[in-house]
Amino acid sequence: MPRYLVVQAPEDGVRLITLQRPEALNALCTELLAELAAELESAERDPATLAVVLTGSRKAFAAGADIREMAERDLVGILNDPRVAHWQRIASFAKPLIAAVNGFALGGGCELVMCADIVIAGEDARFGQPEINLGIIPGAGGTQRLLRAVGKPLAMQMVLTGDPITARQAQQAGLVSELTQPELAVERALQVAASIARKAPLAVRLAKEALLKAGDTDLATGLRFERHAFTLLAGTVDRDEGIRAFQEKRPAHFLGQ
Ligand code: CAA
Repeated sequence: MPRYLVVQAPEDGVRLITLQRPEALNALCTELLAELAAELESAERDPATLAVVLTGSRKAFAAGADIREMAERDLVGILNDPRVAHWQRIASFAKPLIAAVNGFALGGGCELVMCADIVIAGEDARFGQPEINLGIIPGAGGTQRLLRAVGKPLAMQMVLTGDPITARQAQQAGLVSELTQPELAVERALQVAASIARKAPLAVRLAKEALLKAGDTDLATGLRFERHAFTLLAGTVDRDEGIRAFQEKRPAHFLGQ
């Protein structure tokens, strides 16, 4: 049983993971990150899980790395930091990951948001990389993914001043896909996840992989990957079913084959 996560399956094919460390505003201590990485690995292995929603509390999605834990680490501890491997496992989750964000998403919390594929935010959410106030810089993708997500001027402003941005600014900048009233963020994220869970799983998986390629390769390589993936899907049972269902004017029933 995880100590810092609550895991539920509220919809067919959907797993809801709630960070639950209220005493520290969901600060991402090593144990919490290890639990989250393990839970995502389990979701990835489970053929019945087709999309995952990740959320925190109304006050905080996550307030960053655990600063108390950081204070205890010296240089050798940082070089051998087990959290690096946990972050890699979280960031490489292959199924759709939807973040439902309310309250503070700061430091590692904002970096966790950027590991998600789709971000639904309550209007009161705040996104920031305040590490500069601690004399450090983001260490879990916050300089690299943030610049790719929001562009250079805003990424520079956020990382160099440490000042957070509002949910509306985050949406305008491309960090958030949809805004909701705070109390509806999880519900809306679950709707989006359920919609994805009804699609052909192999197509969803390859679509995610192809879209991520756009962010980390050149255009020619990305187009080649897209063409290979498109061709691969032509051999699936689900493609035949999707086309037949369209022609027969009925919903498709995909099998993941
Ligand atoms: N680590 C450990 N504990 C934290 C924490 C964190 N990141 N953020 C909050 N807490 C704890 C506080 O210490 C406090 O605990 P106590 O009641 O025992 O003192 C409790 O959570 C509630 O926090 P506050 O009283 O500070 O709540 P607030 O509403 O006044 O302020 C806040 C909220 C603005 C988020 C403030 O807590 C804050 O600034 N937190 C730190 C944010 C931060 O700097 N994050 C970056 C961390 S570095 C990082 O993430 C590196 C990386 O790239 C991986």
